Parts: sequence; C-alpha cells; structure tokens
Amino acid sequence: MTALSTRHLLGIKDLTENDLQLVFQTADEFKEVLNRPIKRVPSLRDVTIANVFFENSTRTRLSFELAEKRLSADVVNFSSSGSSVKKGETLLDTVNNILAMKVDMIVMRHASPGAPHFLASRINAGPHPANVINAGDGTHEHPTQALLDAFSIREKLGDLVGKKIAIIGDILHSRVALSNIFCLKKLGADVMVCGPSTLIPRYIADLGVLVSHDVREALRWCDVANVLRIQLERLQVKYFPSLREYALYFGINRQMLDELNKEIVLMHPGPINRGVELTSDAADSRHSIILNQVENGVAVRMAVLYLLAAQN
Ligand code: CP
Repeated sequence: MTALSTRHLLGIKDLTENDLQLVFQTADEFKEVLNRPIKRVPSLRDVTIANVFFENSTRTRLSFELAEKRLSADVVNFSSSGSSVKKGETLLDTVNNILAMKVDMIVMRHASPGAPHFLASRINAGPHPANVINAGDGTHEHPTQALLDAFSIREKLGDLVGKKIAIIGDILHSRVALSNIFCLKKLGADVMVCGPSTLIPRYIADLGVLVSHDVREALRWCDVANVLRIQLERLQVKYFPSLREYALYFGINRQMLDELNKEIVLMHPGPINRGVELTSDAADSRHSIILNQVENGVAVRMAVLYLLAAQN
C-alpha cells in the first residue's frame, strides 16, 4: 500500500480505506517534519501548483499554499475576483490558460458542485495531464477537510472503528458534512447527523447515518461533536425563523458540554459563527480541538499533494 488508487482528489467517495490510511500515515511523517526547526523538504521541487479559488477561503487556501511551500513546490495563486473571469472567460478557458504555463497540479475551490470533476475529465487529453484537487465544490464535497478532521480524531482518540461522531448543524448545505460522512463510515465510525429537519436532507439515512433533531441527545450519544456553521451565503429561503432561535435550540455552550460528565471532543471546520452554532466559551474550551484541526490541515494536505504527485 504505497500509492493512491486515484490521480485526482475529487471526493472522499472515490477513495478506498487503504487510500485513507496511506494519507494518514504519510501525514504522520509530514507532521513530524512540521515540528522541526526547518520545516521544509525537497519532495516537490520542480513541481508547479496553481491554487485556483473561485470562492472565498482563509484556512483551505493558506493551508494548501503552506503545504506546497513546505514541500518546495513552485506556487501560483489565482482568485476569480480581479481576474479575466470578470470579463466572461469560462472555467475551462481559465484553467487551460493556467495549464499552458506548465502547471502540474490544480487545487480548485468552486461554488458549483462537480466543477473539479468537469475539469478533471476535460484537461486530461494532453501528454502531461495535471492532477486536480477539490478544495471544496459548492454543497458537494470538501475532501481535504474530511481527511484532516478524521486525522485529528485519530490523533486524539486513536482508531476510528466504533467511535461515535455527531455532525451537528446545517447538513443540507455543507460539503464538509458529506465528505465527513463518507470518510468516517469508510473508517468504521458510527455517525449521527443532527439539526433542524429543514437543514437535513431527506435521504441522508440512506448513507447509513443516524438522524436526530435534539442537540442534547446528539451530545449525550457521541464521543466527538463536529459542529458546522449555518451556510448563510447558501440560504435562498428561510430554513428557520431567526439566528437567535437557531442558537437557542441548536447552539452549543460550555455548560452543555461540562454537564455531560464525560470526555467529549469538540470540532468545527471554521469559520465559526460565534454565538450561533457555538458560544465562545465552548469554542475556546478544553474540549475544543478546532485549532489542532487547522494545524493538522497542513500535514494532511502535504500528504495529499505528495501522494498525487507520485502518480505522475
Ligand atoms: N474549513 C474551510 O474550508 O475554511 P475556509 O472556507 O476558510 O477555507
């Protein structure tokens, strides 16, 4: 088990359990590198990577860029604001122009589900096809977020088999939820989703997850609570009366965690809507591993880039 089963990372759905374990083992090694005084290795010298972001990002974009630089890759950054996309250039033309400058890998975030899959199928005709990494496609998947989340749980609790993970919040609009469900189920964890019925897809149980609409029940059940933000930018209609009411029924505070009288791990992919899904005293409590997730993101993305580059 030394190579991934794929040359693109489009979604967790396509990966095998062996792929997941290989990413984690490789990330373990890169995490050790990141704790050295000199945090750089020459693994991707002469590899050029374009980070192509059509949607806002703080963590994912910076984490990929740092991962690429720690691996000694050459890095270019593209963001659609201020680009020729504003003059009407298509996604495919934009990416083909970037690839014409001898780019080897594309890391892309896009608001449209399936955009990286479309690219991967269209740019692979040439003699040196680039690898495509999905950095979040609309409400569909965010594979590296799920990998870093699972890596962080593994670091905290060990093997995920039989661990109980509750994903709480806006499941309907969340690419993090879907990638996490695929990833956690492949690793043998038990998964519950929790939120208002309007924010839980009707057929979610077909993915083999439990469903709850009671946040206290979810917290009592789980070893790990992965709390998601309300995706305000994707809400076309009202799914709940107000943010205040959402916070009242589905928000998590420190007292709720302390009263469980058990160890519980609190996660959030960021950005946090403080005072909505999490109060500050919960987000910053001893239960929280939110910043460990961000730290682990660099090692996990180094592993993904390294393993995909090895496929060329
Ligand atoms: N978790 C995550 O994807 O955050 P950003 O949107 O800031 O990249």
